[in-house]
Formats: sequence, C-alpha cells, structure tokens
Amino acid sequence: MCGIVAIIRSHTTLEENNLESLPEVLISSLNRLEYRGYDSAGIALGYAEEDGVLSTDPDTRRPTIERFRAAVSTRSLEELKKQVEPAVHSAHTAGRDYNRGIGHTRWATHGRPSEQNAHPHQDCSGSIAVVHNGIVENWRELADELTSTGHLLESETDSELIAHLIEEEIGDTDMLEATRRAIKRINGSFAIAVMDANSPHSLVVVRRLSPLVIGTGKGICVTASDIPALLGFADAYYVLEDDEIASISPDGIHAFDFAGNPAQLHPIPVSWDIDAAQKSGYDDFMGKELNEQPAAIKDTLLGRMTTAGSLTLDETRIDDESLRDVDKVFVVGCGSSYHSGLIGKYTLEHWARIPTEIDISSEFRYRDPILSSSSLVIGVSQSGETMDTLRAISLAKNSKAKVISISNVVDSSITRHTGGVIYTRAGPEVGVAATKTFSTQITALQMLALYLAQLRGLLYPDEIGSLFDQMRTIPDLVQTALDRSEEVLTVAKEIADRRDLFYIGRNTGYPVALEGALKMKEIAYLRAEAYPAGELKHGPIALIEPGTIVIAVATRGRLWEKMHTNISEVKSRGATVVGIVNDEDDQTASLVDYALFVPKTPPLLDAVVDVIPLQFLAYHVAKLKGLNVDRPRNLAKTVTVE
Ligand code: F6R
Repeated sequence: MCGIVAIIRSHTTLEENNLESLPEVLISSLNRLEYRGYDSAGIALGYAEEDGVLSTDPDTRRPTIERFRAAVSTRSLEELKKQVEPAVHSAHTAGRDYNRGIGHTRWATHGRPSEQNAHPHQDCSGSIAVVHNGIVENWRELADELTSTGHLLESETDSELIAHLIEEEIGDTDMLEATRRAIKRINGSFAIAVMDANSPHSLVVVRRLSPLVIGTGKGICVTASDIPALLGFADAYYVLEDDEIASISPDGIHAFDFAGNPAQLHPIPVSWDIDAAQKSGYDDFMGKELNEQPAAIKDTLLGRMTTAGSLTLDETRIDDESLRDVDKVFVVGCGSSYHSGLIGKYTLEHWARIPTEIDISSEFRYRDPILSSSSLVIGVSQSGETMDTLRAISLAKNSKAKVISISNVVDSSITRHTGGVIYTRAGPEVGVAATKTFSTQITALQMLALYLAQLRGLLYPDEIGSLFDQMRTIPDLVQTALDRSEEVLTVAKEIADRRDLFYIGRNTGYPVALEGALKMKEIAYLRAEAYPAGELKHGPIALIEPGTIVIAVATRGRLWEKMHTNISEVKSRGATVVGIVNDEDDQTASLVDYALFVPKTPPLLDAVVDVIPLQFLAYHVAKLKGLNVDRPRNLAKTVTVE
C-alpha cells in the first residue's frame, strides 16, 4: 500500500520549530508510513523565489524540480537520505533551504519495483511532479491517447500518466484547475499530490477513495496518506473527502469539490502517539486489517472489466490461447492460501467447467501428480515466498504445466517463477494471521474462474457482466458483517474458556469452517477442528458431549436444509451450537443457541462474507485471553523453510 506525503513551509518555519531541513523532514514523514510496507521510494523538491533562487534548467533557465528515487526495498528511504545529503549541504552553504516537497513510498501493484517506476513521476517538460496512491483503471486507454499525442512515458506505472494529463491541461490555467481537469479523465482511486516548478507557493492535493489527511502547524502544511506522517509538525488535521481537491500553502488550505464549490473542512486536534497512529487507531494490526477487507476486495476488482464489457486479466501476462486449452486445474497453497483454493474450486468448476484439484503444497510436490502441458497449476501465496509453494510450482514447470500465481507481493519469488500473476491488492498485511489477503485471494480465484469461462465461451458477455457486478456488491456486504463485531464479542465471552471447538459446514461452508478453525488455533490457541458436516456421523460425532461447542456455517447455500439435520444431530447430543446464519433466516436461528447473522450473498460468493464472524470470533477470544493477536507463538508471516 503506497504512502504519500506533501510538505510546504514558510521561509523561517523550520528554524522556528526546531526542525531539520525540508528533505529530512519529508523523509522522516515517509519513514512513519513504513508500516504500510514499501519496495521503493522517492521525493521531489523545490525552492521558493524569496530564497533568491528557483531550481532551473541550465540550458533553458526554466524552473525545474529536483528528484531523488531509490528502489532497494526497505532500505530505500535510507538510500534517499544519502542521495539528498549533498544537495542539502550545498543549499545550507548557500544559506537557503527547499520550501516544498512531495514524497512517496511505493508498494508495487502496476509495474515491478524499480527506480524507474518509483514516484514522483514527471511530465515531459520535467516541471510537474506527481505522487499517487491508488489505481488508474483506464490506464490502457489513457496511455494510448497520451502516446499518440507525443507524450513520452518513461515508466511502467499507471501513475505517471497523471503527470502527463496535467501537462496537457496546464497551458491556459493554474495548477489547481489543471489537476481538476486531468483527474476528471481518470477512472479509479487516487490520493495525489502535485508540485509545479512554476508555482512555488503552493501544492495541490486531491482524493477519491484513497486516504488523505492535511495537517497544519506553525507556518507549515503537511498532507499525507495517514496521520503518523503529520506527527511532530501538525497541531490539527483535516480529512479531505472523496472528490475534493485542495491547494495547500503555509498560510492554509483552500479546498473545493470537483464542481468548484468551496468544501467545508473541520479541524481535528492531533492527539495520537506514533504507535497508535500507525495502526490507524486500532489496538493491533489484525484488527485494522480485518476492517480493511472491503477496500482490499474493491481494489482487487478494480480495472478488471473493460469499458467494452469484457473481463481482462492481461496485465497478468497470461496467454489466452494456451489457457483456452487447459483441461485440468491444480491449485496449490498452504494454510489460509490452501483454504482459499478450496473455495475457488467451486467457481472454477461451476463457471469455467474445468476439473480442479486443490492441494497442500507440501503434499503436492511429493505425490507425483499427473501433469501435462494442458494442466494449469495455480500457486496461491500471500507472501509469494512460501518455500513449499515455490517448490510445488517448480515441479509443475518442470512437468511442462502452465503455471500462474496469486500473490500480494509484487516481484516476490513465486511470482517471478510463474508465467502469469494475479495480484491481490490488499496492501501489506502485518498481522501474522491472514485476513484481508485470504478474502482477496478468493476474489482473485473467482475472477480467474470467470475469465476462463469467458475465454472458453461458456458464459455470454451479459452473464459475465452480471456475475462481475455481483462480485462488486461483496465489499458492502463484508462491511455489514464487519459492523457486527460487538455481537461476535458476546459469543466470544461464552466460549473463551473452552478448550475444544468443532467447526462444521458444507459446500463452500466447509473451507470457511476450516479457515475459522485455523484462525482460532493460531491466535487463540484453542483446539479447533473443522469437518464437512456430512462427515460427522462417520466418527467425529463420538466426541460430542454436553457442553461441546459446535460452530456451524449454516448460511443459505445449496445444502442449507442438510445443515439443519447436522445441527440437530449435535444438539441432540448436548452440544451448544453457534450458527453463522443469514439475515432473516429465523428457521436456522431457532435451531442454534447463538446466531451470528451475516447478509445474504449471491450464490457461490458467500465465503468471503461468512468468514468474517469467524475471523472476529478468533480475534475476540484471543484478546479476551490477553494474547498478542499480531504475533502468535511459533508462527511466522513468511515461511521460507520446508
Ligand atoms: C494463516 C496463515 C498461514 C498462511 C500460510 C501460507 O492465518 O497466515 O497459514 O496462510 O503460511 O502463507 P502464504 O500465503 O504466504 O504462502
């Protein structure tokens, strides 16, 4: 997840506030966004006229911007500091300092991590610099338009286009209006900061769907993706709303909606300490990441449907011809990634009609699977580094199978080993337990199933469109489920002192049960076992006795009525049953002891919504037991050993 910062100060602010030089202030603000994860970073700087100097091109004498970029993973900010030191030194020697700058930490989603792809991006003239957090959905169309009118694009990013779009508009107007016109041409999400070499007294910031806050202090104005970057300089901050644009200067903020009407900004005093701020006010990263799921799913879906109405995954380098010939799919992964594969199987088989096997990576690689050039092996891994999955993929490649990966980390080892990639755009996940990466993996597998169905001509375009529209409703349904966390807490209090739990489900409800049990094991250390509900009577039911807790995923799937029978079986042996139940389903609610309600979801898309109360149940039980949910014992976020 990228982070942006923009700072502008008055002539004497830094000395008055006892701050270091502007580049140092800018880099330390970016440092405070490090928790968002990044693989490269960059800044652009400018002088004010009152310092007696504007940075100018020696040939043309036109004002320019000084840019510094680095792509050495999490050492990029350190590297930037080194790069900028000589410039700061010569400025000090000459008795002046930069008055403004914009900066960026990049978490690659569009184009690999490299210096060339690092922000800030500039227009052809070099006088406009832009940092961007978000996704330009219509980048392909815009790139074609811009190159056809002579713009030279130097990076593989969608963000660079924004600088060129502003360049096209700036001829007859100011930076604010040019930016407003430019972003009207963009579909997607953005938080953008713009710097113009010719406008030394202000910066422009604009937002749609990506976060942006503006902090003000004595003679300084700082805009950033999150509050930690403002700490130390700002006494108060303002939240720019969606579709608002502002010009910021040391004297204040002038904000407008896109129609040009003045926007009302309300000051909020800065009262966070840095640690709390990095977690955006949540007690822990897991709580934060649980709540980021609607945005993560939305981002993963962005830009996949063309204006012509067909699903596109072509940025993923998947060759359509060979995909069309696939006669068998294997999905391999570990832990939660294995569970998302189990859920993906339902759509791969139902929509794309391809036989699909799901394997635990460490089993697949040793079981001599029957693979050929018409097999498609999908490696699912949020980290992209899991050794067993990497090895499973190598085996598939050596057997001439087609191989693609689903990952949350651009340019990770697994993605580099596969012909195609679908990136989940969940942003970095810090908590060890997978939450938002799990739900976005399911989303990615569902998109892939739809894409294969489209390629194979199995669904009409309007059917693809309508299924994709159904997928777009999921973030809101997930949000509704998230809003009910307090109800889950009530149930968590009832079960926190138990040692053994059973999770049951059928159809997609079974992998949801597996995932719920895994979360409970890994962060709350309870013995939680999941079974397909129909399998209970073949053994596990012997363990049910009065007071045993059974958690039943009993939303209205195809086998809903059969779940009623299974619930009755365990109830009649004395179990206390917690049901995951659809809103207004009084029939199921009346069968269970505690009903955790979730909104009704379109067929086959229910897993992402149904898993939310189970994620919360594990989270609340762990917290009630005083455990560290972000760092559970014995576990690592990235498992690079066999
Ligand atoms: C569970 C969890 C692990 C991972 C597993 C695979 O909450 O986080 O089970 O799912 O270690 O990791 P990736 O997806 O990085 O391959």
